[in-house]
Amino acid sequence: MDNFSFHNPTRLHFGKGQIAAVTAEIPENARVLITYGGGSIKRNGTLEQVLAALKKHTVLQFGGIEPNPTYETLMKAVELARKEQIDFLLAVGGGSVIDGTKFIAAAIPFEGDPWQILSERAAVTRAIPAGNVLTLPATGSESNAAAVVTRRETSDKLSFISPEVYPQFAILDPETTYSLPVSQSANGVVDAFVHVMEQYLTVREGAQVQDRYAEGLLLTLIEEGPKVLSQPDNYDVRATIMWTANQALNGLIGRGVAQDWSTHMIGHELTALYGLDHAKTLAIILPSVMDVMRKQKADKILQYGQRIWGISSGSDQERIDAAIEKTRDFFEQMGIKTRLADYGIGADEVVKLIDQLKRHNMIALGEKQNITLELSESILRKAL
Ligand code: NZQ
Ligand code: ZN
Repeated sequence: MDNFSFHNPTRLHFGKGQIAAVTAEIPENARVLITYGGGSIKRNGTLEQVLAALKKHTVLQFGGIEPNPTYETLMKAVELARKEQIDFLLAVGGGSVIDGTKFIAAAIPFEGDPWQILSERAAVTRAIPAGNVLTLPATGSESNAAAVVTRRETSDKLSFISPEVYPQFAILDPETTYSLPVSQSANGVVDAFVHVMEQYLTVREGAQVQDRYAEGLLLTLIEEGPKVLSQPDNYDVRATIMWTANQALNGLIGRGVAQDWSTHMIGHELTALYGLDHAKTLAIILPSVMDVMRKQKADKILQYGQRIWGISSGSDQERIDAAIEKTRDFFEQMGIKTRLADYGIGADEVVKLIDQLKRHNMIALGEKQNITLELSESILRKAL
């Protein structure tokens, strides 16, 4: 196990009725900007609960943050917040709203062009304090330090990480997720699953706790994930998924171990060029990464196959094939297609995707930084 430091400062309030906890989390004299997306929080009653909790606060609102939030829209919020002297941000929504709000929080006090936070990973030394009310369990953004933002003009989907943008608090009320469309519930399960895999399916290095914890999360998603489709109003299922997705990317299981993230980086280019939902890109790319990187990842894929899917017979290569197939089947069972062709993306697009990766300097991906552009091309071709 590698050395590590771990401090996750986000206070979580989990469960029914916890939106009321917002009142005490935000100083009463704060000027609060509520940020949200396309309006789901108005239709499912979440905004009403938030406004009730903030009835003594000064509150402004900024809506219209898109899925895969755009720099163009977020800069409008930055302008509003600067003008109105906002000193607390409250994101209400899914990963896109929360990520977008992290960018807004960092951009408000940023001196210079805020795009540099993404394009050059310019240091974020200050950010406006923020909290969130999560309505879509998937990204873990509610209690991590990462954000992904898209610049529509140039088809760039880029991320930044800064401890300054850890949310101060996150409200996880599973009842807010009853209104999710089936496809978004499924996306959430698959995104969380792949977050665990990116931190688990690397090389074996004696990190027993991280491995067993990751395996617990994977098994939970496999057992409970399909139920979120068949029993969308089951509180216990919604609660389990919400907690699992949070744990998958709050930083804990990735401490002290190698991490991969190639599936995400290649997937981001699919979203940037074709607008595919984030989770769908992961379902397409992960089985291919497992296949192309099967030698380097062999020990871990065999462990995964055995402990998660009970695959214990056959040659190593047969067992690896079976583990990849099981993974693909699980995504398909969640209603998410796993081939580029399923989304109308053909072989002639591969060159464009490789150009994007090159432009974004994604030339040495994976736990050993040895996924070159050539290997990324093989991964994409296997995903056709
Ligand atoms: O915009 P509204 O109207 O709210 O509708 C949203 C949106 O259309 C809807 N939705 C959310 N909660 C709902 C709901 N509809 C009904 N009822 C509810 N309770 O769902 C749609 C998708 O929302 P979005 O926030 O885009 O989804 P998700 O949470 O999957 O976030 C995806 C974004 O997060 C980034 C992705 O790249 C993508 O941009 N990621 C962020 C990460 C992080 N910060 O650590 C890690 C992830 O790997 C990921 O890259
Ligand atoms: Zn993800």
